Amino acid sequence: MQIRSAEFVTSLAEYREQPPISLPQLAVVGKSNVGKSSLINALCNRKKLCKTSSTPGKTRLINVFLINEAFHLVDLPGYGFAKVDKAEKKRWGEMMDAYFHNSSYLFHALLLVDIRHEPTQDDVAMAQFFRQVGVPFTVVATKADKISRGARMKHIAPICRAMLVQPWEIIPFSSEDGSGRDALLGHIGELLELLREEARTSGEEEHSMQ
Ligand code: GTP
Ligand code: MG
Repeated sequence: MQIRSAEFVTSLAEYREQPPISLPQLAVVGKSNVGKSSLINALCNRKKLCKTSSTPGKTRLINVFLINEAFHLVDLPGYGFAKVDKAEKKRWGEMMDAYFHNSSYLFHALLLVDIRHEPTQDDVAMAQFFRQVGVPFTVVATKADKISRGARMKHIAPICRAMLVQPWEIIPFSSEDGSGRDALLGHIGELLELLREEARTSGEEEHSMQ
């Protein structure tokens, strides 16, 4: 898949399904500072579509981007940021809860973990939550430029064990050197194709019931 256009749509503190929320959503989820906003910029080939920062806790709202006028990429605030106070953590929890429970347009999530570190309890809990509520997800191992290609498998193995996924299901990615970009775009293209097929089949079923 090629990204031909990418534009900012809206920022939401409280998720509501009213216009402009009207298209299938691919959410980008993960710990604070793992590289969610950078991944969106790298995918879209845009330096400043999303604001990024070396200080964790940069993204505080649900930011929605329109891609190829066909689907929405959703940049979410990161979890597990130790320095935020209790009230902010509570606000984050409520915002995410409301998002994941009300997002009928969400068709897939990219769950980002740093390739250098073992997933945290929060990462594991996030994967469990997705399985529980039936949101399919793909684990993306970010900052792949920080380790050599030869050392990748050594880092991927503990991620697989913690997240209960197979090594070939994980996409190593770097926003710095672009590695994994084509693989991730290809994967997103396939997911969208599946979605279109599902829509066609359910449309045909509805048609045949009439
Ligand atoms: P929050 O919005 O706080 O949840 O963080 P985020 O997950 O959106 O992270 P962000 O994209 O803002 O990146 C955090 C820091 O990691 C920035 O300093 C980025 O430059 C850096 N970073 C992100 N991706 C990569 C990568 O692939 N390689 C390297 N070397 N650094 C990266
Ligand atoms: Mg961010």
